[in-house]
Amino acid sequence: MTSDEIRKAYLDFFKGRGHVIVPSESLVPENDPTTLFTGSGMQPMLRYLLGESHPSGKRICDSQKCFRAQDIEEVGDNRHTTFFEMLGNWSLGDYFKKEQISWMFEFLTKVLGLYPGNIYVSVFRGNEKLKLPRDDESVGIWQEVFKEAGIKAKAVDFAEKNGMQGGRIFYYDERKNWWSRTGTPEEMPLGEPGGPDSEMFWDFGDELNIHENSPYKDKLCHINCDCGRFLEIGNNVFMEYLKTESGFSLLPQKNVDFGGGLERMVAAQNNQPDIFKTDVFNDLVSKIRELAGEIEVSAVRVFADHLRAASVCLLSL
Ligand code: GLY
Repeated sequence: MTSDEIRKAYLDFFKGRGHVIVPSESLVPENDPTTLFTGSGMQPMLRYLLGESHPSGKRICDSQKCFRAQDIEEVGDNRHTTFFEMLGNWSLGDYFKKEQISWMFEFLTKVLGLYPGNIYVSVFRGNEKLKLPRDDESVGIWQEVFKEAGIKAKAVDFAEKNGMQGGRIFYYDERKNWWSRTGTPEEMPLGEPGGPDSEMFWDFGDELNIHENSPYKDKLCHINCDCGRFLEIGNNVFMEYLKTESGFSLLPQKNVDFGGGLERMVAAQNNQPDIFKTDVFNDLVSKIRELAGEIEVSAVRVFADHLRAASVCLLSL
């Protein structure tokens, strides 16, 4: 499928489940001094996640233009960009974990046709000190949907020294499986909403030897390994907490905040480990190669990302 087809399929899928499709907000955030650019689909939704009524209702989806300057040093590998399109769907105090996980699994496996055996997920391990519980509820739902697809999904605690351990669902701590605009629970300012998240990864498979040919070859591979074998394709945030002076309290409503990079979904759907070899970048990469001659792959990717990002930033002014 092409990127246009996947964007349309995603929006149609959620429209069919009662969501209103809204246009992308500006890349330059309005009334939000926290970042120079919109870095996620949830950023323009903040006040609605905090409880204000959204004019389009409680179920919203979109494809949001995003720019993440903090990822700039990572550009050059097979999957990082500064500018990207984030497919997003939100429940603003409506459905929660059960619907979100089941729908995402259905979308990935039935609409995009991804083979369930190559999908892995992560969940929040919990933090006793912060009184934030382990997300066993999401684990149970993931196990159910994998079971329906004929897969027994073992849940394991991630530990670097143990690698995959035959697991399908991995508990990670808040450095990986907690989401807020500003980072981990400790990094959040008072009044900021956040929550545990459950990320989904596509496995390009061991036969490509991606890990073995990477700088991480001497370590055990796992779904969050930086080798590029596993690609994070989406993040289900269960945004139900508010940071307060006395710790975390529950928001007045339980929200879902899903964000998934369109470019990465295209790579997974095409089983192409290099997002710069998908239809999103093909023309640009060919032109760069024509003009620059023989240059390193990572340099081509940097040129492609930065040219695209700079163009979209200029168009947003
Ligand atoms: N808001 C979810 C994400 O950016 O991953």
